[in-house]
Amino acid sequence: MLDDVILRRRSYRTFASRPVEKEVEDKLLTMTLRAPSGGNMQLWSMIRVTDPEKKALLARTCDNQAFIAKAPLVYFFLSDTHKWIEYFKGSKCDEKFGKPIRNPGIGDFHLGMQDAMAAAQTCVLAAESLGLRSCYIGDIIENYETVKEAFHLPTFAAPACLLVIGYPKEEIKAPLLPRPDNDAFYFTDEYPEITYEMMEKMYKNQEDFSRENKTLPLDNTGTYGDRYFNKKYTSDFMAEMNRSTKIFLSPWFEEEKD
Ligand SMILES: Cc1cc2nc3c(=O)[nH]c(=O)nc-3n(C[C@H](O)[C@H](O)[C@H](O)COP(=O)(O)O)c2cc1C
Repeated sequence: MLDDVILRRRSYRTFASRPVEKEVEDKLLTMTLRAPSGGNMQLWSMIRVTDPEKKALLARTCDNQAFIAKAPLVYFFLSDTHKWIEYFKGSKCDEKFGKPIRNPGIGDFHLGMQDAMAAAQTCVLAAESLGLRSCYIGDIIENYETVKEAFHLPTFAAPACLLVIGYPKEEIKAPLLPRPDNDAFYFTDEYPEITYEMMEKMYKNQEDFSRENKTLPLDNTGTYGDRYFNKKYTSDFMAEMNRSTKIFLSPWFEEEKD
């Protein structure tokens, strides 16, 4: 049942060396393409990374996460307007309709990103239902220049996310990572004024869990907010994500200059 798949899914990083059979991967790819997509246009692309050297490169560029190189399946999702521009050119849309083929804009990028993430999440749940496990790698938005060169990315095909997928080496026995309670998390009808108390309530389950596991800063007296601030928000990798993303996003802001 899909609800079991959703409720038991967790991020998984240590895969068995067993390869994923072709029939299983074919099924996974077919299910991934069933993802909803704006206008059914698939404004996304996905590169199946099979070359061990490219996997190793991604392990380095994605903040040195060694497990990426060992994953049986590595899928690189892109927000992709480039292929459509080529299609418009081949179809001579400008001549047929007397309108220029404009450069993609930031809205095109964002729609493609929505599509790419819908496809990636469909892939995650499909993988789980096929007995596979997976993990997102957000660090794919780092080191754009190196990734662009290695994968020959055109300007208007931008990194969305990476997925690593494989059979589990062994099941993880630790409890699932907690989530906020519904009533502390969801807003109704409008975005409220955020207060500290609201945030404490929202992240109480994660804070309690982190305290039990001694992963809060300041000798475990800190808050979950302190943890995010310290480990992620002010980290070198987050600075790199911001630098790199600015580079691959900037051409999408040039739409009007065509
Ligand atoms: C957009 C996104 C980016 C992520 N990037 C990474 C990553 O680079 N490395 C990693 O090990 N896990 C990554 N994760 C997995 C999260 O750490 C994980 O989903 C989170 O801690 C909750 O754990 P769970 O998925 O087991 O419930 C990412 C997840 C998402 C959705």
